[in-house]
Amino acid sequence: MAFTDKPHLILFFMMSSTLILFVSVIDLSNASAETPSSGGDGFLPLAKKHVLIRNKVRNKQILNVHCKSSEDDFGMVHIPWNGTWGFRFHVNFWKTTKYHCHFTWYKGGSHYFYIFKASRDDKPFGDPPVCKECIWDVGRSDENPICRIPHEMGYLPYCFKWEDGP
Ligand SMILES: *[C@@H]1O[C@H](CO)[C@@H](O)[C@H](O)[C@H]1NC(C)=O
Ligand SMILES: *[C@@H]1O[C@H](CO)[C@@H](O)[C@H](O)[C@H]1NC(C)=O
Repeated sequence: MAFTDKPHLILFFMMSSTLILFVSVIDLSNASAETPSSGGDGFLPLAKKHVLIRNKVRNKQILNVHCKSSEDDFGMVHIPWNGTWGFRFHVNFWKTTKYHCHFTWYKGGSHYFYIFKASRDDKPFGDPPVCKECIWDVGRSDENPICRIPHEMGYLPYCFKWEDGP
């Protein structure tokens, strides 16, 4: 019996070492999160992220936001004008994490945007750069309705159009 169990034992050890590897990756990303201006988070899987949405709509109305991914659904949130709301998560191992949001406000219409896409926001040397705390201003202007605000002073916001699509 013990003889036939051997392959299982080997498999068990392989699985445990994979688990240990995962745990150390999580530890690493935590450590780098505390290093100022590390910016290298994009190289690591399972990076910790904090998305912040700021209501900057020009007519100073309440911004209604509904964000979800394939795993999370934050429900409808009402952000007062000049207020901020956000959520935290980890990028998945395959770096396919995406959060899709629906935005509405009085006389502002109904708009969609991927507030986080690993392929855009966690891509090393990407444009915009990798963000750990990803700050977005919504509604400052019609031409640039949604902009990612860089942490570093003196850098211009990265603005995008709505992704309303067909
Ligand atoms: C991760 O970092 C936070 C602070 O950013 C700290 O409070 C926490 O204890 C750390 N966790 C681990 C496992 O090191
Ligand atoms: C908007 O919020 C920011 C940050 O909380 C604050 O500094 C600023 O004074 C506010 N602006 C207005 C017009 O209330």
